[in-house]
Amino acid sequence: MDRIKIIGGEQLNGIIPISGAKNAALPLMIASLLTDDVLTLEDVPHLADVEQLIRILGNHGVDYSVNGRREHQDGVYSRTVHFTARNIVTTTAPYDLVAKMRASFWVIGPLLAREGEATVSLPGGCAIGTRPVDFILDGLRALGADITIDNGYVHARAPKGLKGAEYHFPKVTVGGTHVMLMAASLAKGETVLRNAACEPEVVNLAECLNDMGAQITGAGTPEIRIKGAKSLSGARVRVIPDRIETGTYAMAVAMTGGDVLLKGADPRQLEVVLQTLRQTGTQIEEEAEGIRIRRNSNAITPVDISTEPFPGFPTDLQAQFMGLMTRANGTAKITETVFENRFMHVQELARLGARISLSGQTATIEGVERLKGAQVMATDLRASVALVIAGLAAEGETTVNRVYHLDRGFERLEEKLSACGANIERISG
Ligand code: UD1
Repeated sequence: MDRIKIIGGEQLNGIIPISGAKNAALPLMIASLLTDDVLTLEDVPHLADVEQLIRILGNHGVDYSVNGRREHQDGVYSRTVHFTARNIVTTTAPYDLVAKMRASFWVIGPLLAREGEATVSLPGGCAIGTRPVDFILDGLRALGADITIDNGYVHARAPKGLKGAEYHFPKVTVGGTHVMLMAASLAKGETVLRNAACEPEVVNLAECLNDMGAQITGAGTPEIRIKGAKSLSGARVRVIPDRIETGTYAMAVAMTGGDVLLKGADPRQLEVVLQTLRQTGTQIEEEAEGIRIRRNSNAITPVDISTEPFPGFPTDLQAQFMGLMTRANGTAKITETVFENRFMHVQELARLGARISLSGQTATIEGVERLKGAQVMATDLRASVALVIAGLAAEGETTVNRVYHLDRGFERLEEKLSACGANIERISG
């Protein structure tokens, strides 16, 4: 298994290109199941989760092709991929494919809407809380689906097609909103979703579905209206920049000091995060090409945060922010409200010398003057990158084990960081 070795203490200076967002690319790829036409996605990141979803879609009959590099394109970081689901060859998504990635459960929406049936294994995915799918299933039931669960599989049927309806999510769910958007786009009549997720990735998907022929209004607000179409066509859509990758590198610079342009980053996607970083003493400037992050002084001011659905502080940046707070000049409190059990990085940060105590869903971080390199273990995607950030600022050598988690969600992480002066390398095997 690959490891990442970091010798801490270097400042970061230079340019980091921001990739297309994993969490936008995945639902957009799944939307290709809704049409027999070609769905072309630009800026698809090269990640293990994307490759895994390609395998899952392939099982249903989706062909794909990748454009070669184009001379005018800026660097090698963007890929254009064409997806075509001419015929759906099976409506069953088996356990061995779905268990590897939770988001693959979302195929249930388009398969059910287009084929009138879907049999999908209950999901696996990151070990962060129980992450049930009850609201996804209730939403599909509201559209007229008949749903049973048997031997770990969800069987969904709507032989006469889905019908528009009103559905109020009891709790904000990103995946639930994606599934309902896709299913309702091929349902008869109008669907109204209340308490819908407002994440930029939801807007990216809604715009794609509109380009394919659905009529969706209100995406990006808690109330979304969808007028379904009889059939949907192909489209060409750009994946939005990755706001979690943006926030992660911003925190890395805030941690090590230096001056980095996050090229292609969109500040509107992470206003609360940038505001919070400013409070820690980090300088942030919005430039035409992206976001510039600078920190010169030594002091990191502690700031309390609580994770919330968009536009609040994202849970996917909680671990990284905790990494930053381990070096703050004082005590910070971090409360996780989106997932239970998303503090697995605490023990690993402690191995680097961090002082953190946990009480329920709140972590109290007492900033220390220095972290010291150690062997640490990545436990999930965002936790593992928090360890990398901490390692960049720690004295001496840090080895992050089990980096396959990083490869699921961060494109060319070592390359991007070492181009800015970090002493970081991957050790294979
Ligand atoms: C997505 C993101 C993930 C991010 C999360 C929250 C992708 C691929 N993943 O995950 O990176 O951390 O949003 O921003 O986009 N819930 C239920 N019942 C349901 C569905 C969800 O109780 O039917 C709960 C979950 O357990 C969790 C909360 O709702 O506590 C939010 O989950 P959700 O927004 O659905 O997360 P994902 O879409 O899986």
